[in-house]
Amino acid sequence: MERLAGTRVLLGVSGGIAAYKAALVARLLVGAGARVDTVLTRGAERFIGVTTFEGITGRPARVEVWEDVPTDTHVALGRSADVALVYPATAHTLAKLAAGFADDLLTTSLLAAGCPVIVAPAMHTEMWEHPATRHNVEVLRQRGVHVLGPDTGPLMGGDEGPGRVIAPEVAVDAVAEVVAGGSVRDVAPAGQASTAEARPRDLAGVRMLVTAGGTREPIDPVRFLGNRSSGKMGFALAEVAAERGAEVTLIAAPSALPTPPGVTRVDVTTALEMHDEVFARLAGVEVIVKAAAVADFRPDTAATSKLKKDAGAPTIELVPNPDILAELGARREGADRPVLVGFAAETDDVEAAGRTKLVRKGADLLVVNDVSAADAGFEVDTNRVLLLDRDGGRVDVPLRSKHEVAGVVLDAVVARLHG
Ligand code: C5P
Repeated sequence: MERLAGTRVLLGVSGGIAAYKAALVARLLVGAGARVDTVLTRGAERFIGVTTFEGITGRPARVEVWEDVPTDTHVALGRSADVALVYPATAHTLAKLAAGFADDLLTTSLLAAGCPVIVAPAMHTEMWEHPATRHNVEVLRQRGVHVLGPDTGPLMGGDEGPGRVIAPEVAVDAVAEVVAGGSVRDVAPAGQASTAEARPRDLAGVRMLVTAGGTREPIDPVRFLGNRSSGKMGFALAEVAAERGAEVTLIAAPSALPTPPGVTRVDVTTALEMHDEVFARLAGVEVIVKAAAVADFRPDTAATSKLKKDAGAPTIELVPNPDILAELGARREGADRPVLVGFAAETDDVEAAGRTKLVRKGADLLVVNDVSAADAGFEVDTNRVLLLDRDGGRVDVPLRSKHEVAGVVLDAVVARLHG
């Protein structure tokens, strides 16, 4: 059954550039079976049209309080909702909600809503960190409002930092959690810790190697054996670790992603190159995170000129690549440094497969992805993982942005560094 079947969602959209992403939120909610009533602020309407939401939800989307007056529109939408999501929530809208203003349809609806309310803040970093906004967010939290994010990343006008709205998939997942009786605040501590103010500097001075991306194993000068890894998870880990004070070297297999601020990047192509770069850079390293998808096999020999079709289908002999993580684990033997973090992509019996791999590779922590899910794993900005600890611990991280997942993984790394 659809996970939001029959759920009545009030989707509030306020006036930031991220309003365009609210259309995808509406689409995902409808896809999950929800009935969605959209209320836009006048500011939101400058960014995205009512028609878009009406087309997606099949229901009227509104801006003004002055329509359908006999049906009590100003309170009816709030009263009939099972859950309200304000996506994006601008600084202005958060302030109005905190103060209890009722000067447009969104604010009257939310004042009349007895249901759980989730807000997804989106604004420039300075606005998010301003004491007025901090205060308003705190007031809302104390009132039981679920505050989701914001994320860290590119903002409007080329800026970068905390203030980016959380991904549509994460918002819809949060709606489902709240409807199921959960608390987003309880399961998303990393979302709040991702703001500059709350971000710990608990990796200050720690030397860290992070590998990311998918290796390419040449067949001839133009062809290779590759995989679907985009590098997003590893780059997010490098970025968040650097923000928390680590000295990060990122050994990157081919990836289109920009180098995160403050990170030293070493580009490699093949598993063998990655192996050599990792082992050449071990001095003083306290943490190694192996987020790269390393090819297990490579063509025995790569042709020096392009293979011709006329010569018929080639036979490609494969030989195993070194397992970098297992080698690091074996080399470390009984020592507890460097802390070793591996990743595993699994499709079946994820936990058991992860436990076996954790032991076999001699790692301390293993981040297991269920790559059979569409919204987690390869090429997407979100991930849902199971974090296994060699001492038997496990943490389920529900669908979150890869930056938030990185925060949870690094929390576990810090715990191991402190013994
Ligand atoms: O065995 P599997 O490929 O599932 O293991 C994944 C983990 O092992 C990842 O952390 C990956 O970076 C690492 N790995 C490695 N060298 C290989 C294959 C995988 O370091 N040749």
